[in-house]
Amino acid sequence: MADHDIRVLDESNYRTAHSLFRGSLHSAPAEDDRWEHVKRSYDPGRAFGAFQDDEMIGTAQSWPALLAVPGGAEVPAAAVSRVGVRADWTRRGVLSALMRRQFQAFREAGEVVSVLRASEAVIYGRFGYGVASRGRQLKLDRHRVTPAPSAGTGGRIRLVDLDTAVVVAPEVYTRAGLTRPGMTSRWPAWWTMNVDRALRYDNSRMAVHRGADGDDGYVVYSVKGGMGDSGSPSVLTVEDLVATTPEVWAELWRFVFRVDVVDQVVGELRPLDEPLEWLVVDRRAVKVTDVEDETWLRLVDVPAALAARGYGSAEPVVLEVRDRYLPDNDGAYRITPDGVERTTAAADVSLDVDLLGATYLGDVSFTELAGAGRIDVLDGAAPARADALFATARAPWSGTYF
Ligand SMILES: CC(C)(COP(=O)(O)OP(=O)(O)OC[C@H]1O[C@@H](n2cnc3c(N)ncnc32)[C@H](O)[C@@H]1OP(=O)(O)O)[C@@H](O)C(=O)NCCC(=O)NCCS
Repeated sequence: MADHDIRVLDESNYRTAHSLFRGSLHSAPAEDDRWEHVKRSYDPGRAFGAFQDDEMIGTAQSWPALLAVPGGAEVPAAAVSRVGVRADWTRRGVLSALMRRQFQAFREAGEVVSVLRASEAVIYGRFGYGVASRGRQLKLDRHRVTPAPSAGTGGRIRLVDLDTAVVVAPEVYTRAGLTRPGMTSRWPAWWTMNVDRALRYDNSRMAVHRGADGDDGYVVYSVKGGMGDSGSPSVLTVEDLVATTPEVWAELWRFVFRVDVVDQVVGELRPLDEPLEWLVVDRRAVKVTDVEDETWLRLVDVPAALAARGYGSAEPVVLEVRDRYLPDNDGAYRITPDGVERTTAAADVSLDVDLLGATYLGDVSFTELAGAGRIDVLDGAAPARADALFATARAPWSGTYF
């Protein structure tokens, strides 16, 4: 019998859970004033604790969201976060038990997929999560940046205060829509924990673009270093940039390049296909300093997830899926340009559910996974067919860190 049990948390133990999570990542508990802010981000019924007797030893929680999938549909998703097990209780199955309990809850809530960001890349594969989108880290030498000639938008960019920011940002995000596979809706607490917190506590700024039809884009940024810091460069980090059109996107970047007393502009986890090099005269002013995993995706309900997305044109392929944690997902699925059905036909490719998650938004191809020996190929022509069926026009990307 397990030496711990999993319980749904309520208001009386959110703070313990939050401190436990922060402690697992070697951070101090939130101060009282911050906690007043943070406590609103716990959703009733969605936070779990692992207990030994009445002592909390681990925790995990999630928020409900929508995930945009290839083809334009949006599916219910559980965005998992604040996962931590006390250091004196690790490697005894506590996270495994929390994960099982969460999957059960996601199923009950009709959540088709789950997404998360991983502190370490070795944790979540076993639970069926695969890397489904990546982002690149960019560093621009601002002194070398001259924007390429452009007609501009004819709009106007203004800096706004906190009260305006917390109203305008969600409106613009909704107006912009989930335009790429991998984007998610943003739950109320996301805005509290990010835009509100960044402007309130972290000296971030928000600039809003107003076009003919009102506010249609914004950028949140912060500047650190420089001025008074002996010799260190002044670095502007773009924290969130949302635009309803490519023209507004370009105008917001041009605004960023114009901010004074800045030596470097940094973008973290930006889309792999963001055409920033094409926005400036000297493309070598833009350095890609890293490419990192962004969304870890778990198909909780494989048939529903496969049915929700669109497919390109190619001859059908039969995928055999293995799922250790949710075995009713096990089985063969015949994928065609018109949709998906369970089948008893022989498999062309056999793979674990985490790798199906990795292919689902179009990030990694079946050919790449076959090349790395990660999937079993039973028909040598099948990876190319599967690639054509699963490919997406734009690189998947979320842009919502949580
Ligand atoms: C990651 C963490 C929650 C794992 O909790 P845990 O209770 O030790 O996990 P479990 O005991 O259920 O582990 C299940 C399996 O995953 C493996 N595993 C879990 N975390 C691992 C890690 N960080 N590195 C390598 N293997 C890991 C275990 O060895 C075990 O393998 P097995 O099934 O082959 O025996 C815990 O280590 C932790 O709190 N880490 C610091 C905070 C953190 O990184 N949180 C995640 C934020 S995204």
